[in-house]
Amino acid sequence: MFDIEGKVAFITGGLGGIGRAYVKELLKCKAKAVVITDIDDSLAEKFQEEVASEFGPNKTMFIKADARSTKELDDAMQKTVDVYKNLDIVIGNAGVLDEIDFVNTIDVNLIGALKLLYLAVDKYLPKYKSGEDAVLFNSASVSGINPVNVLPAYSASKHGLVAITRSLGRPEHYATHKVRIVTVCGTVTDTPMSHHFRAPKNYMDLYNPFHQQVLASMQTCESAAKAMILSITQGENGSVWFSEKDKPATVVKFPVLGEIL
Ligand SMILES: NC(=O)c1ccc[n+]([C@@H]2O[C@H](COP(=O)([O-])OP(=O)(O)OC[C@H]3O[C@@H](n4cnc5c(N)ncnc54)[C@H](O)[C@@H]3O)[C@@H](O)[C@H]2O)c1
Repeated sequence: MFDIEGKVAFITGGLGGIGRAYVKELLKCKAKAVVITDIDDSLAEKFQEEVASEFGPNKTMFIKADARSTKELDDAMQKTVDVYKNLDIVIGNAGVLDEIDFVNTIDVNLIGALKLLYLAVDKYLPKYKSGEDAVLFNSASVSGINPVNVLPAYSASKHGLVAITRSLGRPEHYATHKVRIVTVCGTVTDTPMSHHFRAPKNYMDLYNPFHQQVLASMQTCESAAKAMILSITQGENGSVWFSEKDKPATVVKFPVLGEIL
């Protein structure tokens, strides 16, 4: 089992609802520090103060970075290892849910996650991990497994994260860099994203009758964070987890069809 105690973590989109819960849960598990990146720095100071009062000083460093920019991610990771010397856990969590600007949705959620992944797996984690093992985690979504009538682009981006996890989570990759890659597909979670998203009116007309039902079934950010911890501490390389309201996350089983390379 992977031990978070003493490890250095790095997160994108770390000031959003789920991101903030991830940061706190990592610190509850005694991570040495969490480097928080986000494109929006408006909550940075307040959240860092809150974390310092709960977990003590110098547990976080905030770096403003756009998850769509390889250079900004690279600079932030370099600063992480300059300051903390190690990097053990990388969390791709930046996300948007916008079916009108669907290019940006794919750009942040999928292309950005790939940019992060290649930096983490090829450049930083193998060189700077403090133990045998390092881990890369992506925030996917239940819409990465199930179809969602109103969210084709978002759903495509999250299916993509599942595909990336399963492709890069093959043993041949692990043998070369010793980085596990895991993901959680969480159900709707109580964050700003779930309450305010954009989709074409004809799609929203299909979704609106279900809106209250969806909101009533939301999980908390804390529940999402516990699922992340379970997957990074216990998840096999390439594993995809499912998390829903108030239940421990479980591993998703996929059918095996044809040859797998
Ligand atoms: N809310 C849900 O129901 C739910 C469910 C499953 C998975 N997720 C996923 O969890 C992750 C976090 O979502 P959330 O619900 O906390 O939403 P949120 O809107 O509260 O947080 C998203 C964060 O990503 C940041 N971000 C957006 N674009 C960025 C960019 N280009 N570069 C860097 N940061 C950027 C935002 O500033 C924000 O802090 C997302 O990937 C989301 O798709 C959400």
